[in-house]
Amino acid sequence: MNIVITGASRGIGFEVARKFASNGKHTIISIARNTNGLNNLKELCSKTESQLVTIAFDLKHTDKYKTELLPLISNQVKQVDILINNAGYLINKPFGKLTIPEIEDMTTVNFISAATLIQTLLPLMAKGSHVVSISSMGGFQGSQKFPGLSIYSSTKAALASLTECLAEEYKENGIAFNCLALGATNTEMFREAFPGFSAPLKAEEMANFIVDFALKGNKYFNGKILPVSSTTP
Ligand SMILES: NC(=O)c1ccc[n+]([C@@H]2O[C@H](COP(=O)([O-])OP(=O)(O)OC[C@H]3O[C@@H](n4cnc5c(N)ncnc54)[C@H](OP(=O)(O)O)[C@@H]3O)[C@@H](O)[C@H]2O)c1
Repeated sequence: MNIVITGASRGIGFEVARKFASNGKHTIISIARNTNGLNNLKELCSKTESQLVTIAFDLKHTDKYKTELLPLISNQVKQVDILINNAGYLINKPFGKLTIPEIEDMTTVNFISAATLIQTLLPLMAKGSHVVSISSMGGFQGSQKFPGLSIYSSTKAALASLTECLAEEYKENGIAFNCLALGATNTEMFREAFPGFSAPLKAEEMANFIVDFALKGNKYFNGKILPVSSTTP
């Protein structure tokens, strides 16, 4: 399978890319900014049967997706079977203290970048392709909310809504769109969101679920927002 994953330099995305690489013969295109993290991932996956390709790219540059990012991807693969919109950015701050650039950055990385990447890669997707967008319990309708996470959670809710809309718009093409609203997982982001708390899952444990879901979930789900959480937070 040809897999594109964003936010693969650390945390959950790193472990998802690693798990794909060690389970089968895939081409995994891993996108993030931090080259140290990406190089580390490439090194760890070098002895697998899969091919792991790293692309150092700032997802905030949505104006460069078609001109710079797409050629880098289409040089490697002619078709994308799985896209995982995993990259995320969280600033934990009271709503009234957030600056406009901070609000824009969270909106761009968490929502606009995912929408733009889907738009950019749709021409490479065929019947049976699966787009998995990684949202958060904070953006899941009716879930418990937390002060300091208003914009982050709202951008994640937007990603969930986009999933439902695209599943409808592309149902004739046979491309499935699903959204996983993750719960607490022990990563840098979790420590920023909930200082002093401990998460019940390690990144690799959450990654195991995401990889299985990305491979098989489109057979059973389309346009669904699934809570993946056993605790609050
Ligand atoms: N951990 C949790 O408890 C939890 C709960 C709910 C949802 N989630 C969601 O799960 C996903 C993964 O989270 P995580 O906990 O693994 O977070 P993390 O450890 O903070 O990792 C975030 C990843 O996103 C990438 N990223 C951020 N800004 C980027 C940019 N401008 N361009 C390219 N890549 C960028 C980072 O790479 P670079 O910095 O190298 O660019 C990094 O690889 C996120 O969407 C998050 O919202 C996590």
